[in-house]
Parts: sequence; structure tokens; C-alpha cells
Amino acid sequence: MIPPRQLHPKPFLKWAGGKRQLLPQLLRALEAAGDFGNYHEPFLGGGALFFAMARKGLRSDRKYFLSDINQNLLDAYAGVRDDVEKVIELLEQHRINHSEGYFYELRAHVPDDIVRKAARIIYLNKTCFNGLYRENSKGEFNVPFGRHKNPLICDEANLRAVSETLRSATLSAKPFDRITDDIRRGDFVYFDPPYAPISRTSDFTAYAKEGFSYREHGKLAELAADLATRGVKVVLSNSLTEFTKDLYDDFYINKVSVHRIIGSFTERRGEITEVLATSFPLVQEPDSVE
Ligand SMILES: C[S@@+](CC[C@H](N)C(=O)[O-])C[C@H]1O[C@@H](n2cnc3c(N)ncnc32)[C@H](O)[C@@H]1O
Repeated sequence: MIPPRQLHPKPFLKWAGGKRQLLPQLLRALEAAGDFGNYHEPFLGGGALFFAMARKGLRSDRKYFLSDINQNLLDAYAGVRDDVEKVIELLEQHRINHSEGYFYELRAHVPDDIVRKAARIIYLNKTCFNGLYRENSKGEFNVPFGRHKNPLICDEANLRAVSETLRSATLSAKPFDRITDDIRRGDFVYFDPPYAPISRTSDFTAYAKEGFSYREHGKLAELAADLATRGVKVVLSNSLTEFTKDLYDDFYINKVSVHRIIGSFTERRGEITEVLATSFPLVQEPDSVE
């Protein structure tokens, strides 16, 4: 029997709220969950956890359901999965033409075709200010040009690894409250919603034109509790506030420390405590408050 090829895919987009720093704790949570059925990630963004799992090897007897409300994002994933060679060819053209004027030209028009969409979003993501994905209220990418010295516009090897990995996944653009039909008892769900504001003035929520309100955080907490009651293994990350502690009162609250940029377009960084709320205990809980 030929063993599955070992792939090392990394997120191909840098995403606001990406979970690279939380990976050790998230992988620990996956291990602590024990054997589980299918995997669901309904706030996909850059997919840090999914790709970390893929680097360890995906199981052929398990389904991987990946979704996000952002249609442009899911189109990019589908474009890379379906025709990575064409995406690479288009990125090569973007690399050759790269300039401030070219960036704004490309930013102004969203193509219909998913392969062109994928190359466009990757190019804009690698060359924009801070590499942050942000949309205005019309759902348009609105980050200005970034002055990167030598941006890696086309990482061919990684794109090919991502493309092959995504063939094991089911991709869909939909809001988190429409995922329940696919979830069975014993499955694992990782919820990574836009952060609940840590103060009235902070704004971590501008990922998609829809935003994410306190009410939606409440709806999500109800869904998470309902799934946990039905025997689904649930992990959720968020900022640590009185609001989120209240919402996940019945969950295990595991505190984790991370460095984050604070504020929208400033360079201010700080150490922040975030929470991993889990429906099951983690093996070791040195930071746990419960
Ligand atoms: C914190 S980010 C996820 C980051 C991701 N885990 C990563 O590693 O890059 C939150 C994501 O939630 C998505 N989102 C916002 N509102 C949503 C909703 N109602 N349903 C599903 N996804 C939503 C945003 O488009 C964004 O990609």
C-alpha cells in the first residue's frame, strides 16, 4: 500500500485574528478531545488550526467541514483547490507587474471567476498594508497599499500543498448558524468568532461587511451549549472579558496569553489574555481558572 504523501501546508492568507499563536493550546485541545468523528471549522479565516492538523496528517475516514460567512474568502479557497496551476500563473503575472498603481487597479475590480479571485486576493493580501484583510460596508476589500520590501507574492510549493490538502475538505460560504445539519454526536467543532470587544472603544470586528454583534455572540454561545449537550466536542476562542466568561459559564475556561496588535490601523502591540472555552477538560490546565 502506498502511504499518503506527507504535506506541509500553511495558511495561504494572513488573516486578522489568525490563530498561529494559539496553536499549541489548540492542538492540545484536539488531543484532549480524544477520538472524535468529523471536524468542523465554521469561522475559517486563514484556517490556522485546519492547516496545522493537515501538517500532522488528515484521516481519510474523517470529513473536514470548513466554512466562513465571507464569500470572497471561500471562493479563493475553492480557486486554489480547483486550479492551483492557473492561480500560480496569474500570481506570476501579478508579481511581474507589482507596483502601487497595479495594486489599486486590481483592488478596484473583483473578477467573477474563482481562480482569478483567488490570485487577486492572495496578491492583495501579500502586498497590502499590514497584510490585514478588511472589507467596507459594501463587502469591498479596502486596505491601502503596503510598502513591503520584497513580498513573497507567489509561494508555489505552499499553494500546491494547500490545494492538495483542500481536496479532503468540504468548503462552504455560510454563517455559523447554518452548519448544524452536518454535525453529529462525537464530532469536533472549533469556533473562532470575531473577538468580543475588550472595551467599548476597541473594534476587532470588521472582518466582513456583516460585523459581529453582542447578540450574535449570544446566539453563538447558545449554539455551542446546545452542541455540547448533544455530545459534540466544542472548543471556542475569544477575548477574555466578563461578557465572554458569563456566556461560557458552563464550559471549562482556559486562559491563554498572546501578543496582539491593539486597535485598527495602529502599530501598538500588547500582551492580552484570551480564553479557550472547552466543553471537556484539557489534560493539563496550568492556566485554568476553574
Ligand atoms: C477570528 S477570524 C477567524 C480566524 C481563523 N481562525 C484563522 O486562523 O485565521 C473570524 C472569522 O469569522 C468570519 N465571520 C464573521 N461573521 C461570521 C458569521 N456570522 N458566520 C460565520 N463566519 C463569520 C469572518 O469572516 C472571519 O474570517
